[in-house]
Amino acid sequence: MLHVPVLLEESLDFLLNDLSGSYLDLTFGRGSHSQEILNRLSPSGKLFAVDRDLEAVSYGKDNIADKRFEIFHANYSQIDVLFSEQQFNGILLDLGTCSTHLDNHSRGFSFQGEGPLDMRMDTSQGFSAASFLNESTEQEISDVIYKYGEEKASRKIAKAIVAFRNHTLINSTSDLVKIIEGVLKRTGKKHPATKTFQAIRIHVNNELEHLEIALGKLAQLLNKKGVIAIISFHSLEDRIVKNFFKPDIQSLPKDIPINNVVKRAFIALKRKLNLLPKKLNEILDLEVPL
Ligand SMILES: C[S@@+](CC[C@H](N)C(=O)[O-])C[C@H]1O[C@@H](n2cnc3c(N)ncnc32)[C@H](O)[C@@H]1O
Repeated sequence: MLHVPVLLEESLDFLLNDLSGSYLDLTFGRGSHSQEILNRLSPSGKLFAVDRDLEAVSYGKDNIADKRFEIFHANYSQIDVLFSEQQFNGILLDLGTCSTHLDNHSRGFSFQGEGPLDMRMDTSQGFSAASFLNESTEQEISDVIYKYGEEKASRKIAKAIVAFRNHTLINSTSDLVKIIEGVLKRTGKKHPATKTFQAIRIHVNNELEHLEIALGKLAQLLNKKGVIAIISFHSLEDRIVKNFFKPDIQSLPKDIPINNVVKRAFIALKRKLNLLPKKLNEILDLEVPL
């Protein structure tokens, strides 16, 4: 399947604030965002890309021949180590899994094809989904399915997983699909295995923890006018990203009008006092027209 990038124009319009600047794509994937960044950058611009998936990194090396571009195999939670000396004009994160993961059934991400139940984005380390399901307790499995899949039937599914593995080890995507289909009937368009596959993938790749660690390190990698653009896919990531960007007003310098808080306060005051807008604009010397 062709990889269709999400929010390509929107994210890059926002991200690219200086076309001769230096940028970081922390989730290279199949490089659609990276390629478009390079298309827009001037000859003196620079783009560094990162992906934890070795196939993505090889794809980048083989397919993007541009001296303004460099790609690294790394987890974005380690960016401070990789880029200890640099600052960037913009950092992009397009979170989650790639359609190429789902399409390659030998990676075990998809419930729609037969393959070994692996699900690791970085196959050079960590544990596979099969190891997790064969070696964890019923409670641990149930907790993961509930927490990362928001699956109400998590207990029933975990119980069925343990019953299955008492006979034979769980090895393939179809083993897991069979187990889930024995517990949940399909209602509507969504496959009953959708939430469980998502949950196990998030757990095996420790996705949310890496995201939280990376977010805490982004600011130190940005120059003064730097921009961070994050595309999130599901509500768990979205919550983490939104909470991270919630302004902590007390820690901000008072003279920076972050989030237009100051402007909004003045506009509210103007309305309350019910004064002639023109006159109050003169008194307060506001830039914001009513
Ligand atoms: C949604 S895809 C990105 C698609 C990309 N924007 C494109 O245009 O092709 C997410 C990519 O991020 C990578 N990824 C996920 N978590 C990561 C992490 N913690 N560190 C580095 N890369 C990660 C995945 O391997 C995947 O290739």
